[in-house]
Amino acid sequence: MPPNFFPAYSVFLMIMLIPVPRVVCEDNQQIVSCGAQFKCGNMVISYPFWGGSRPHYCGHPGFELTCDGEAPEFTMKEASYRILDINNSSHTLTVARADYWDSYCPPTYVNTTLNESLFSYNATDTEVNLYYDCHDESQTQTEPSNQFNCTNIIGYYTTLDLNLGVSTESCGVYVTVPIFQSAATALVSGGGTLTLLTEALKGGFGLEWNASNSLCTECVQSGGQCGYTSNQFTCYCRNGNSSSTCRNTRSSSGPNVNRKIIIGVAAFIVSFVMLGCIGIIRYSLAVKTWVFWKKESEDDENVEAFIRNYGSLAPKRYNYSDVKKMTNSFTSELGQGGFGCVYEGKLPDGRMVAVKLLSKSKGNGQDFINEIASISRTSHVNIVTFMGFCFERSRRALIYEFMPNGSLDKFIYNRGSSNESLKLEWKTMYQIAVGIARGLEYLYRGCNTRILHFDIKPHNILLDQNFIPKISDFGLAKLCQKTESMVSMTHARGTTGYIAPEVFCRNFGGVSHKSDVYSYGMLVFEMVGGRKNIDVQVSHSSQIHFPTWIYKQLQPGKDLTVLRSITNEEEEETARKMILVSLWCIQPNPSDRPSIDKVVEMLEGSSHLLEIPPNPFM
Ligand SMILES: *[C@@H]1O[C@H](CO)[C@@H](O)[C@H](O)[C@H]1NC(C)=O
Ligand SMILES: *[C@@H]1O[C@H](CO)[C@@H](O)[C@H](O)[C@H]1NC(C)=O
Ligand SMILES: *[C@@H]1O[C@H](CO)[C@@H](O)[C@H](O)[C@H]1NC(C)=O
Ligand SMILES: *[C@@H]1O[C@H](CO)[C@@H](O)[C@H](O)[C@H]1NC(C)=O
Ligand SMILES: *[C@@H]1O[C@H](CO)[C@@H](O)[C@H](O)[C@H]1NC(C)=O
Ligand SMILES: *[C@@H]1O[C@H](CO)[C@@H](O)[C@H](O)[C@H]1NC(C)=O
Ligand SMILES: *[C@@H]1O[C@H](CO)[C@@H](O)[C@H](O)[C@H]1NC(C)=O
Ligand SMILES: *[C@@H]1O[C@H](CO)[C@@H](O)[C@H](O)[C@H]1NC(C)=O
Repeated sequence: MPPNFFPAYSVFLMIMLIPVPRVVCEDNQQIVSCGAQFKCGNMVISYPFWGGSRPHYCGHPGFELTCDGEAPEFTMKEASYRILDINNSSHTLTVARADYWDSYCPPTYVNTTLNESLFSYNATDTEVNLYYDCHDESQTQTEPSNQFNCTNIIGYYTTLDLNLGVSTESCGVYVTVPIFQSAATALVSGGGTLTLLTEALKGGFGLEWNASNSLCTECVQSGGQCGYTSNQFTCYCRNGNSSSTCRNTRSSSGPNVNRKIIIGVAAFIVSFVMLGCIGIIRYSLAVKTWVFWKKESEDDENVEAFIRNYGSLAPKRYNYSDVKKMTNSFTSELGQGGFGCVYEGKLPDGRMVAVKLLSKSKGNGQDFINEIASISRTSHVNIVTFMGFCFERSRRALIYEFMPNGSLDKFIYNRGSSNESLKLEWKTMYQIAVGIARGLEYLYRGCNTRILHFDIKPHNILLDQNFIPKISDFGLAKLCQKTESMVSMTHARGTTGYIAPEVFCRNFGGVSHKSDVYSYGMLVFEMVGGRKNIDVQVSHSSQIHFPTWIYKQLQPGKDLTVLRSITNEEEEETARKMILVSLWCIQPNPSDRPSIDKVVEMLEGSSHLLEIPPNPFM
């Protein structure tokens, strides 16, 4: 080594040590996302089912769930089934036909046909036969107890043990629906009344599912999460995907430990040598860059250094010309912000994207770095998907998945608008609030690194075609080690109105994830209060301080039905929960605020379990 290499090498070392945020997450993303459970009503469901916050790869095709607010449902061959109970260890379900749940007069007539390779009936099942559109006048007149009337369509039902001698030959339609044997027995002994029929249909029937059950048991026991990719069962393990268990990849220490050590030492030496080579290249590159762009701001160099440091981990990089092509020369603008403009675009494969072109102001380099560092490692239904970036000196763009419904703010601040499509129902608002909380929960749950967003506000919440909320804009985000409970900050960040008091005034306590909880609370409170169709039922409402007024309405003996938009008890319960949760979140003292996982729990539980918080507006 020539002696003058040493100073050079130490410069290189210094460059290497420039503190650049890194998110190096060892966890296999699928373990985290498939660890999430499908929650609906009071049911909690996981593999082989998917849907909601569980991506499709966490379950078996054919086991997609939806939630109607009360119970999970799945659809198979035209009929939907409502899940009433589940037993994880025996792989059994109690389900009822959704269309027969509270009526024997369904809107359309569909048989119960399940895919037999996925489900088998339980030995406890039998069936009821339902006949509709029957025209035998002589029989209709005598009204046997198993006759029913669906607004002028006369029908009968029979079971194996009960037909009361009726003839069903004159009936146009015939449908079979499984029920439990016990319900069928009760039907016979009770004389076959229609009340008993309704009860029997409501009670459902038993099913056993068949979705690589034993493989999944093994997978879970070995520390993995079950899923399904490329048409076969997959076990997601910490160190990759496996077709059965995580053990064969894990139990590698053991017989040939010596070989492992040798390989380990060799790998260490090789990587050390490579590091040296990379160092030399980096050093010469750094010098070149420095000479060439001597006049460029330090900002640009930081970004370039960051991107180099990220290496192959960095998301896809596009040229400015690609970006121009993608957006058809920036013809369709989606929105504007302090950072620049967002345009609609299309990738060569036809996928729609949103392209955020950052304005050329100096000093947005750190925002750019924060954004890439935070978001390129996230994958969650409630975080916007990042697809790439462009960085050519002052030309900077970030490319995301396209969100057809835009940002939440336009749905909140629509006072004075008569556009009905901008009014969100309570149910949708509630789902949005839960979704954002789940997204934040995910950001804080990272394996080594937590991501604090620091700019949660309606403008930064995007909505997809189903109004699933996605957190975006990580320009102010901060990455910190999981072990750090408090974050040091050199300058206040955030947006007035959402920024937590401790962020700009240290007397309130340390800055932590609770600062995002505060912003979240402000956002939810705005969702509740900011809608045009909420008006206080008092004259001179403009003179009333809305927060103080709403706080009073929470007290015993008062209720929220005075909010004009609330039309039923369910909505009042939803509104009450959202208000109570938001008030807890905006407590001035961070330690009084709930953590975000607690927030999810509070939103999903009953409002009766929530205490009224101290008035944060006092
Ligand atoms: C059900 O079993 C699956 C796989 O065996 C497991 O991942 C999941 O946590 C269980 N769910 C509940 C609610 O026990
Ligand atoms: C689930 O099934 C197992 C095995 O059949 C049984 O032992 C257990 O009691 C069931 N659990 C519930 C909650 O029914
Ligand atoms: C249901 O299946 C039976 C035979 O299994 C058939 O006769 C009947 O027409 C089917 N009903 C409908 C509505 O498809
Ligand atoms: C039943 O499910 C299996 C496994 O998912 C699938 O391959 C098959 O095509 C399904 N059968 C029908 C008739 O849909
Ligand atoms: C379970 O599913 C597999 C593959 O889909 C099929 O080969 C097998 O017959 C099914 N078992 C039962 C009991 O239905
Ligand atoms: C069936 O119900 C309708 C009203 O819902 C009634 O007008 C009609 O007379 C009933 N038919 C029989 C046969 O009971
Ligand atoms: C299925 O059948 C078994 C025994 O036949 C019974 O113990 C179990 O409760 C049934 N499960 C369901 C979901 O009906
Ligand atoms: C594991 O499967 C998931 C889901 O399909 C896929 O996205 C991921 O790339 C796979 N991981 C590996 C290491 O193969």
